[in-house]
Amino acid sequence: TETERTERIEAATETLGDDVLILGHNYQRREIVEHADFVGDSYELSKRAAESDASHVIFCGVTFMAESADVITDADQSVLLPSMEASCPMAGMAEALQVDAAWDQLTAAAPDADVVPVTYMNSYADLKAFCAEQGGLVCTSSNAADAFEWAFERGDTVLFLPDKHLGENTAHELGMADAVAEWDPWAEGGADAAQAADADVILWDGYCQVHERFREHHVTEVRERYEDVNVVVHPECRREVAAAADVVGSTATICETVADADPGDRWAIGTEIHLANHLDRWHEDVEVVPLCGDACMDCNAMRQIDSNYLTWLLEELVDGTERNRIEVAAREAELAEVALDRMLEL
Ligand code: 13P
Ligand code: SF4
Repeated sequence: TETERTERIEAATETLGDDVLILGHNYQRREIVEHADFVGDSYELSKRAAESDASHVIFCGVTFMAESADVITDADQSVLLPSMEASCPMAGMAEALQVDAAWDQLTAAAPDADVVPVTYMNSYADLKAFCAEQGGLVCTSSNAADAFEWAFERGDTVLFLPDKHLGENTAHELGMADAVAEWDPWAEGGADAAQAADADVILWDGYCQVHERFREHHVTEVRERYEDVNVVVHPECRREVAAAADVVGSTATICETVADADPGDRWAIGTEIHLANHLDRWHEDVEVVPLCGDACMDCNAMRQIDSNYLTWLLEELVDGTERNRIEVAAREAELAEVALDRMLEL
């Protein structure tokens, strides 16, 4: 039962003491965030991992987050992911090998185009390493506009990977809405590489299967239902959904928006359902409603982590066995860190 698992998790963490740090992403199940030492977005959690001296960091999130934590922690610290099934589909939509091949197409078709690759944090370490090698950087949804500006100081065109919606919303924020090309290097009849390189921003054809499902009518309906409602959505949502919202912001911004709301305010939350539910529990004086009911906006990757896996991982550690270590190869880690550091210096 959940009570038994809670007792076992507590017993194991007591035995392990400061040797273990449990990090919980905001999109994790309630029974996971309740056992976490820190709860936050991917960026905050990586910073917590880097600041910690714990020998083992248990990252309750998805693979790309655990990889970033491994890149920025010391070599003698291990990062463990409770379930190896927890992989973000969006990160898998831009594999480094694929991007490398597309990059060759682009540079061959438009040799004079000065393209700077910018990858969203939601990507694997080898793609971050590729971006560093090609003079680019990493960004999160909180600093994408700054990352674009950094790139435009060094080149004429941004190739943004993997999330086309974050790329489009950021271009819009910077007043570049018309200077955007969607590019699928393998699409029949699609824009060719030379055409794409004429744009200021080239969008890779990736998306988040959770945030992409929000539609403009969800915003219209919630406004019809609650006259006084405010709407906040994540920038991984489609452009028209972002345009219809009152606030567009990263996971951290969504949390701050609700934390700063006045008692009695009503906020509809356009992001993963677990975060909407946590915000509802954490801020009893604010009326929190999920933007699209609570039926569908559930991240299947995040959901792979449950208290069974957490119990298993901790009890194995108590027995002296490390399971599910996420380790980025040394050369890749070195380059990925360059791309992450460029972001941190923004
Ligand atoms: P954050 O960087 O906001 O934690 O993003 C995680 C995520 O998966 C958004 O869909
Ligand atoms: Fe990936 Fe979307 Fe899930 Fe975030 S919410 S981990 S971007 S699939």
